[in-house]
Amino acid sequence: MLSLPPLSLYVHLPWCVRKCPYCDFNSHEGRGPLPFADYVDALLADLDHDLPLVWGRTVQTVFFGGGTPSLFPPEAIDRFLQAASARLRFAPACEITLETNPGTAEHGRFELYRAAGVNRLSFGIQSFDDGCLRRLGRIHDSADAESAVKLAQDAGYDNLNLDLMYALPEQSLAMAEHDLERAFALQPAHVSHYQLTLEPNTVFAARPPQGIPDDDGAWDMQEHCQALLAAHGYAQYEVSAYAQPGRRCAHNVNYWRYGDYLGIGAGAHGKITLGAEQAVLRRWKIKHPTQYLARAGSAEAIGGDDRIGPERRPFEFMLNALRLVDGFALGDFEARTGLPEATIAEALQAAYERGWLEREGARVRPTELGRRYTNDVVALFLED
Ligand SMILES: C[S@@+](CC[C@H](N)C(=O)[O-])C[C@H]1O[C@@H](n2cnc3c(N)ncnc32)[C@H](O)[C@@H]1O
Ligand code: SF4
Repeated sequence: MLSLPPLSLYVHLPWCVRKCPYCDFNSHEGRGPLPFADYVDALLADLDHDLPLVWGRTVQTVFFGGGTPSLFPPEAIDRFLQAASARLRFAPACEITLETNPGTAEHGRFELYRAAGVNRLSFGIQSFDDGCLRRLGRIHDSADAESAVKLAQDAGYDNLNLDLMYALPEQSLAMAEHDLERAFALQPAHVSHYQLTLEPNTVFAARPPQGIPDDDGAWDMQEHCQALLAAHGYAQYEVSAYAQPGRRCAHNVNYWRYGDYLGIGAGAHGKITLGAEQAVLRRWKIKHPTQYLARAGSAEAIGGDDRIGPERRPFEFMLNALRLVDGFALGDFEARTGLPEATIAEALQAAYERGWLEREGARVRPTELGRRYTNDVVALFLED
């Protein structure tokens, strides 16, 4: 029996000052004045159209992702949040995150985001090395990054995430460690530490930059950086996520626990459990901002609807849950997939025997080895 998991709201804001050569997100270089007010109208029309999927449910977390959400003026974010909270119940301690590019920070903005209800900022720092930042095509240098974070802290933000990438062109282990040291000095609550990947259809995939560390070099950086993060009080709780105690990102944790989320905005993806129908629906919106602006609020803005049948749910559940260091509770598997534990008994057994998963009471978690071979572990749960 499927039961309703916590509900999140993802809002995609698709523009950036400049497209970074490694990025395959749905982000578009903004040319000329951007239609912020029209886009907020489109988001609200989109939300209205999806509301029947979540009647009566409470939103636990909101995440403005991009693109560069911090390009949006605080008034636009404020108008969206006010109108959204008039349509949907927000939990009293709702975590509301906004992704921020340090190159867009302006004095006074952070106070206004805070007044609008944004209580967590996620900064795209990438590196504190100016050479690395240049090679990554970033619009800011390390001094801009540090001063943006400090401006946010002065505005009263203490729940900050810093995104860093490693295995960068011409980056040594010492440089990767130095990036972390610079991050620690700013005392963020959370650090996301991503290995640079060459994504298809990006400039870097077409013309790979010189000096990207090989697999062994990248693994070495990951291990050393993980230890350094732990030594500074940042416990790893997911493949790329590290947090001080009590500061995990509730929004992302909900994804990884196979929770529900509405996806609003150009190219946004959602996943919703439909209790009455005992179904899991994935819905995504059309990607291009101009087309999205014209069609939001109608069925034409929906890029696709996909009902996830019971045969695919174990794989989807594991794809997410096994990213978490703590793994999952067997009861959550049953509640979120609507399937009895027996469905995965054979696959679990195979994973225990290979030393990839371990069971402790009602919890199943990946071992060190399992975390190294996540793709193989998850493949055990594919339908035949
Ligand atoms: C959508 S971006 C949001 C932040 C904001 N747009 C910025 O870049 O400042 C989310 C994060 O994903 C990471 N990321 C993007 N492309 C990546 C890639 N090819 N490999 C690894 N991490 C990547 C970056 O750390 C980035 O900050
Ligand atoms: S600023 Fe962020 S979202 Fe925009 S192109 Fe760069 S990495 Fe992608």
